[in-house]
Amino acid sequence: MTSKSRLCFSSLLLLHCIVFDSYFLVINALACRPDQIKALLEFKNEFESGGCTRIDYFNGVLCDNKTGAVTKLELPSGCFTGNLKPNSSLFELHKLRYLNLSHNNFISSSLPSEFSNLNRLEVLSLSSNGFLGQIPSSYSNLTWLTQLDISHNEVTGSFQIVQNLTKLSILDLSYNHFSGTIPSYLLTMPFLSYLDLRGNHLTGPIKVPNSSSSSRLEHLFLGHNKY
Ligand SMILES: *[C@@H]1O[C@H](CO)[C@@H](O)[C@H](O)[C@H]1NC(C)=O
Ligand SMILES: *[C@@H]1O[C@H](CO)[C@@H](O)[C@H](O)[C@H]1NC(C)=O
Ligand SMILES: *[C@@H]1O[C@H](CO)[C@@H](O)[C@H](O)[C@H]1NC(C)=O
Ligand SMILES: *[C@@H]1O[C@H](CO)[C@@H](O)[C@H](O)[C@H]1NC(C)=O
Ligand SMILES: *[C@@H]1O[C@H](CO)[C@@H](O)[C@H](O)[C@H]1NC(C)=O
Ligand SMILES: *[C@@H]1O[C@H](CO)[C@@H](O)[C@H](O)[C@H]1NC(C)=O
Repeated sequence: MTSKSRLCFSSLLLLHCIVFDSYFLVINALACRPDQIKALLEFKNEFESGGCTRIDYFNGVLCDNKTGAVTKLELPSGCFTGNLKPNSSLFELHKLRYLNLSHNNFISSSLPSEFSNLNRLEVLSLSSNGFLGQIPSSYSNLTWLTQLDISHNEVTGSFQIVQNLTKLSILDLSYNHFSGTIPSYLLTMPFLSYLDLRGNHLTGPIKVPNSSSSSRLEHLFLGHNKY
């Protein structure tokens, strides 16, 4: 037995205590450090989570096999009901690169500005939740984001801050209450290839980039707006 497999074995025991007899199902979470598992459990306990089991929840977790930090969290659909508070343990998972909280029920929560603490994020999906209010300006700190999905919420105001997210290739803000004109920078962002703004209150005019521009856009959806 190498020291590596012994390490795995002790992580296994730890998870065994936490997830009862189902450790074979949570193989992804085996590399997680105890403090990260504690934060994950605290996060789960902040909500009514009858919609999923602990096993389902940990199946969506991935930790870095060198550092033990959580790098990926994909919440099962319909897992959590409740308020996502600014002091949530979620915002202690600073090494997250992929976070998918879509199709849950964060009842009448505004978008916490603390998402900006997770400034290693490359993929963030908050779609189909009950998020209200504006996108906090702190989100302009999420400069590693390549995919941002806030679709199907009740988000208002403008989305100026995405201008600073220069690595974005996929941006989905559809079915919210964004208003104002579509800023021309959005159509010429350096890597943006997919942009969905359907179902908002946006107004014209739209400056469609010409063929000599640097636009990478391949998919642009603008239907169900006000222009
Ligand atoms: C750690 O993860 C990387 C990729 O995520 C993989 O290539 C490597 O084999 C893993 N190492 C161990 C010891 O599991
Ligand atoms: C997030 O999870 C949902 C399922 O709950 C899935 O349909 C969607 O593709 C995921 N989003 C990303 C960006 O991986
Ligand atoms: C988080 O804030 C809420 C109030 O919004 C408070 O009731 C709760 O005790 C706080 N939790 C922690 C762990 O500080
Ligand atoms: C952005 O991050 C820097 C440090 O990385 C921090 O000093 C600054 O306050 C953050 N800005 C916002 C708006 O969160
Ligand atoms: C966004 O980018 C602009 C231009 O690069 C910069 O002046 C501004 O400070 C940035 N905003 C934030 C909140 O980082
Ligand atoms: C195309 O767009 C670029 C940059 O916006 C502009 O400089 C150029 O004049 C435009 N060309 C035509 C033919 O409209």
